[in-house]
Amino acid sequence: MPPISRIGILTGGGDAPGLNAVIRAVVKSAYNAGIECVGIEDSFDGLLEPDRSRPLTPRDVRGIMRLGGTILGTLNTGNPFSSSVETSEGVRSYSGRCVEMFHKMGLGALVVIGGDGTLAIAHQFSEAGIPLVGVPKTIDNDIVGTTNCFGFDTAVAFATDAIDRLHTTAEAHRRIICVEVMGRYAGWIALHAGVAGGADAILIPEIPYDLSLVAQRLRERDEWGAHFSIVVVAEGAFPAGGTVALLEEASDSHVERLGGIGAKVARGLAALTGKETRSVVLGHLQRGGAPTSFDRVLATRFGAKAVDLIRCGDFGRMVAFAPPDIISRPIVDIVGKIKSVPMESDLLKAARAMGVSFGD
Ligand code: F6P
Repeated sequence: MPPISRIGILTGGGDAPGLNAVIRAVVKSAYNAGIECVGIEDSFDGLLEPDRSRPLTPRDVRGIMRLGGTILGTLNTGNPFSSSVETSEGVRSYSGRCVEMFHKMGLGALVVIGGDGTLAIAHQFSEAGIPLVGVPKTIDNDIVGTTNCFGFDTAVAFATDAIDRLHTTAEAHRRIICVEVMGRYAGWIALHAGVAGGADAILIPEIPYDLSLVAQRLRERDEWGAHFSIVVVAEGAFPAGGTVALLEEASDSHVERLGGIGAKVARGLAALTGKETRSVVLGHLQRGGAPTSFDRVLATRFGAKAVDLIRCGDFGRMVAFAPPDIISRPIVDIVGKIKSVPMESDLLKAARAMGVSFGD
């Protein structure tokens, strides 16, 4: 096989701090290895038409390491393998058009940076014959096979800072403040930010909660003279026997949108404790802004490793962090799986030992 001389790079799904740092690392490492890079805009949509991609040189990625978002744009695509699309050359199957354009653009491989949904699509393209490598991204940190995804550390740092700020106002007013953080299927952000911020209760999707147990814990605090409490709630948390709080039903292009569980927990705790409560949703603030130095380094290592894999012809694989190393795994091994917080997690046990309530 002749050496690859041109590769494409795209970002898919929700953004995460560090996407630009990966793009920069891919472009610079590829350039230094004599490989041209083409930036594909708006996830796989950018493969549909020739004017939706552009060459990327080290000059184009100068200074982007510290920027949140993605210079390529991103979106949540529906499944390209079950949809068709109107193109400048007529209606085509979405995936067929992407494969056709991949070859027309003279690409030898693709770097796909995305979360579980995007990587599942990448796996299908890989099966359809496109040589590609995946880079795992999500602030939720719930992709299996990698200890960390970039973006998670930044989200936790932001949420911890918010919890610190809420502590002082909660104490001043003797209130319970419920902080809703992201974490659709897994409670990694809630657990890490909750512990780092000294929360009194942490509710996560892995542990369906009983609010009366949380209320009991908060009343005990009152007895010791701590007349305020902080409760961190992952957006995907739900009561035992109940369901998640929905903002919007799923559609063709989008999974269901979660939201509102923090307010629901706050209302319930007000009724059970008689205390004044407030709720705050951190939402997309957790996804914006500059990545932490940890995420910049991880993203850079991921990007460089992705180019290494391409140069070795090691396709269909995802780069991964197995401290202290950056390794790779077959993408197929991670498709359709979620990395939940394990019940035997040391951090979970430490928090329990210190009296944090998980509502169970
Ligand atoms: O997957 C990361 C995530 O932050 C989830 O926690 C959240 O449910 C989702 O993205 C929201 O994404 P969007 O508003 O972009 O659809």
